[in-house]
Amino acid sequence: MPKIVIAGNWKMYKTQSEAKAFFSEFPNHLKDTASQAAITDQQILICVPYTNLALLQTVVPAICPNLNIGAQNVHWAENGAFTGEISAPMLVELGIKYVIIGHSERRQFFGETDETVNKRLKAAQAHGLTPILCVGESKQQRDANETESWIFSQLAADLVEVDQNNLIIAYEPIWAIGTGDTCASSEANRVIGLIRGKLANRDITIQYGGSVKADNIDEIMAQPEIDGVLVGGASLDPAGFARIVNYR
Ligand code: 13P
Repeated sequence: MPKIVIAGNWKMYKTQSEAKAFFSEFPNHLKDTASQAAITDQQILICVPYTNLALLQTVVPAICPNLNIGAQNVHWAENGAFTGEISAPMLVELGIKYVIIGHSERRQFFGETDETVNKRLKAAQAHGLTPILCVGESKQQRDANETESWIFSQLAADLVEVDQNNLIIAYEPIWAIGTGDTCASSEANRVIGLIRGKLANRDITIQYGGSVKADNIDEIMAQPEIDGVLVGGASLDPAGFARIVNYR
């Protein structure tokens, strides 16, 4: 059975003081059952800007012991002349376990390609990090009936020599990100089922991401193929994200 993983992606939001304010409020909204469940069959994490990683690794365990802090990208080299990048050993030293790789915003605005995504995935795994690989189609691709072929080509290229025993995949249709235009949960379920059919390991956690909110989480999580969510905007609000974590 795939593990349920409920993840936030703060993107480029929250200074350190804003991050501290979030965590001083967030646990007050958690149901006991949800925090207990996190110990066993459900993982909760929030992927934060690099500047918040060290601070939150120090502060969060005492406040919210079952919540992991993750990063939003990682370089493939151990170190080197790569201005602006962060290496896997730098994340591992902080005790980070999860890292988003290949988010559509990286692919769209920062020249990320399937080749660099694949290199980042392999480097993350080589250092014991669990990557969250993001795939998904644009509006034009969906309208041209290219959703399946596009996602299959992303998976084929991104997963070359990648260990499917230490991997999370997030299906994030680009047109549903930050738009309020959530993919119908039945359609997300269908595409995630197709993604699973392409994997050697059918037990990989596959999340849905794109305008997930407190008011659609129950319906999304009721879908049989969907093993969790990757939440952008709604993860910035402590009460809203706690409601998502408390979906059951
Ligand atoms: P929103 O939840 O803001 O649509 O963002 C989704 C996303 O990109 C998560 O990685």
